[in-house]
Amino acid sequence: MEERMVSAEAQTEEAAVEQGIRPHSFEQYIGQEKVKQNLKVFIEAAKMREEALDHVLLYGPPGLGKTTLSAIIANELGVQMRTTSGPAIERPGDLAAILTALEPGDVLFIDEIHRLNRMVEEVLYPAMEDYCIDIVIGKGPTARSVRLDLPPFTLVGATTRAGMLSSPLRDRFGVMARLEYYNVEELKTIIERTATIFDTVLERDASIEIARRSRGTPRIANRLLRRVRDFAQVSGDMRISLSRAIESLERLQVDRLGLDHIDHKLIKGIMTKFNGGPVGLETISATIGEETDTIEEVYEPYLLQIGFLQRTPRGRVVTPLAYEHFNMEVPNK
Ligand code: ADE
Repeated sequence: MEERMVSAEAQTEEAAVEQGIRPHSFEQYIGQEKVKQNLKVFIEAAKMREEALDHVLLYGPPGLGKTTLSAIIANELGVQMRTTSGPAIERPGDLAAILTALEPGDVLFIDEIHRLNRMVEEVLYPAMEDYCIDIVIGKGPTARSVRLDLPPFTLVGATTRAGMLSSPLRDRFGVMARLEYYNVEELKTIIERTATIFDTVLERDASIEIARRSRGTPRIANRLLRRVRDFAQVSGDMRISLSRAIESLERLQVDRLGLDHIDHKLIKGIMTKFNGGPVGLETISATIGEETDTIEEVYEPYLLQIGFLQRTPRGRVVTPLAYEHFNMEVPNK
């Protein structure tokens, strides 16, 4: 899922810019050290044996670099990456067409793999396990099943919701890697690299400020950098100083911790309408007008991570830390 709901046009522009700033090798890829070190070994071993790399599942919150990492895996293996997504593969035939077009050793990247439908998923099992598919030709009493061999390939699946994968699918991945939120130092390095690609002067304290407000997420960090750069450009002073960064981030309604107006609406909604909770997800969704999936996949993970929100069996609860951030009294219950 996209990490923020933005217009199709903005997504296209963003996608184009993203292409230019994406790292192409492990060496350029910052952070996720454990995942990176392990993947390097598995890739090297697969290359030594001249085999396809085992299937890889990448999971974690949106914007942390799952697609980027998959492209790097393909690059490091020296093979092509084919890209699709769970919802895009509607029928078993769609998947069969993709699989039969692969070259030996290729990476097939399936984004949002938790959204594959059951029938398609069942085609994927033998494809992953034995590099073959069974397709049914014809209809009714004359229908027959034909087995097709596939080239050895590596499936890289990405999901924000590992828990939503069926266990037969999950069990077929030989490598499972969980991506973690980035620290400020890593995000700072990432946007400094991006600023260099943009040929923009980004002062050190400004890059720390942007990094701090990026919710541990490179995609957000790069987006904030682009917007701050817009403010700098229009002002006539292309240099990004700390004061320019702070002023721009305030205008973007991104607070000191990187929380935006929707995070505010979510937290303050629970505080003011439900006395801090516990309150159920459906109720929150109806109150603030955001879909439950978006709340669960996009907004909640970071709020849980920074300890502003807790999940309890009776619903979501706002913590004293959040009250402190918003300068509000913790209610007596
Ligand atoms: N851009 C997005 N994610 C990145 C990462 N992990 N390292 C470098 N550049 C990135």
